[in-house]
Amino acid sequence: MYASSPGAATAPITVPSLAQRKADGSKIASLTCYDASFAACLDANGVDVVLVGDSLGMVVQGHSSTLPVTLDHVVYHTAAVARGLRKALLVADLPFMTYRDVPTALASAARLVAEGGAAMVKLEGAGYVLESIAALAERDIPVCAHLGLTPQSVHRFGGYRVQGRQASEAERLVAEAHAVAEAGADLLVLECVPAALAARITQELAIPTIGIGAGADCDGQVLVIHDLLGVTPGKRPRFSKDFLAGQGSVAAAVAAYVEAVRTKAFPAAEHAY
Ligand code: KIV
Repeated sequence: MYASSPGAATAPITVPSLAQRKADGSKIASLTCYDASFAACLDANGVDVVLVGDSLGMVVQGHSSTLPVTLDHVVYHTAAVARGLRKALLVADLPFMTYRDVPTALASAARLVAEGGAAMVKLEGAGYVLESIAALAERDIPVCAHLGLTPQSVHRFGGYRVQGRQASEAERLVAEAHAVAEAGADLLVLECVPAALAARITQELAIPTIGIGAGADCDGQVLVIHDLLGVTPGKRPRFSKDFLAGQGSVAAAVAAYVEAVRTKAFPAAEHAY
């Protein structure tokens, strides 16, 4: 019980240690994951934060959006991933409509933590979501917020488009980033926003930012594992890179990604907006 010793070579990644990484300027490498075998591979090759994203609806289940994913699906995949991890921090997505009000958000998050083994839950947006972020944080459930291209809002956006290109939209995103941090979020994913805007948010916020299509100046990066391995059907998103190309194994591809994030070689300008 309580055997973790801070500073040991195999010390697990914790929520406070992520804040320290921002302070130290040491980039955080994150990937999505949906099963125990890949979880063990990511963990062994230096990934800091493993995310059971509702992207599983698209890359595992074959849907055209994340909207059909249920809480039961995410609990199932989170528990599988948890069995493969030793060190990385486990974050699980709250699917569409599972945080539509505070009581629902608390009950949904409790399942991801208690049944799934997640250390942090992720939810999309600001506005009415701020109340749920505050309620979760008050109950010591760490929260990762997600702004920019929030896939659960695909119908309002009319597609998967870069967000924050107009000055008014950019100012709204900056205000939302401050609001989620003030509500108690410990981490913020910024998806598909111009690199300069993500850099500004990263600089203004005390909490770490994790970018996906948000340029090199975020405190860390996340990719969907299928994109990193070049197996996503269809056109590769601009912000991703096939790290398996030229490597001999999945493990080597993951290690190359972690190294590229840490050394700031990824993302390059060609991966940003
Ligand atoms: O669902 C997911 O995988 C995500 C990442 C793309 C950040 O939200």
